[in-house]
Amino acid sequence: MTATAWDQRYLEGRDGWELGQAAPPLQQFLNEHPLSPKPPGRVLVPGCGRGHEARLLAGLGFSVTGIDISTEALREARRLDQPGVSCQWLQLDVLDPVALNKEGLAAASMIGVVEHTCFCAIDPARRGAYARSMGTLVAPGGWFLGLFWCHSRSGGPPFGSQPEQVNGLLESVGFEAAVWGPAQGGLPSRDNEWLGLWRRRS
Ligand SMILES: C[S@@+](CC[C@H](N)C(=O)[O-])C[C@H]1O[C@@H](n2cnc3c(N)ncnc32)[C@H](O)[C@@H]1O
Repeated sequence: MTATAWDQRYLEGRDGWELGQAAPPLQQFLNEHPLSPKPPGRVLVPGCGRGHEARLLAGLGFSVTGIDISTEALREARRLDQPGVSCQWLQLDVLDPVALNKEGLAAASMIGVVEHTCFCAIDPARRGAYARSMGTLVAPGGWFLGLFWCHSRSGGPPFGSQPEQVNGLLESVGFEAAVWGPAQGGLPSRDNEWLGLWRRRS
């Protein structure tokens, strides 16, 4: 889908993905899991939408950059900004390494990435480009935390995926799974969500 098509969805309220908060399994993991990444460090939220995950991370003490292809998504993210919880919002295509680099998102510039429903928004044919982008941006020793909707329905977005595909893709760009399994605490409407934490090989 193009940026304009995503803008239309926001403007028309066709935003069935919207939870009004950071995804509960990610909140739970970041707040409670013994392997949860800890601040400080710069973290990217790709396809950040209204920015719920970005604000959660900023509240935990990370320095957060939320990027989205849609002007309307970022307008909403800025509208929801909270006093004392500061994020950087940039309009960028996660699949465009030249534009990312130009805006300061250079190779190894991030300690981590938090993924939530950006991967499933991207055409499956472009998933290799998404994974390469993530592998490039995260510094060696850094991490990738993702909540993936591994449903099997045809069409999309949200495009489905299989757990072994997701792990294989991330492994192919230098990540190694520390956690990868069915998510805890997800909403009933999101069947078969998987949560993973990968570390970038040094
Ligand atoms: C399903 S929404 C999810 C938004 C947010 N992550 C959430 O969970 O509420 C997908 C988001 O990814 C954005 N997006 C789609 N393709 C993108 C791309 N290539 N680069 C950056 N953002 C993209 C869309 O504009 C949209 O805001």
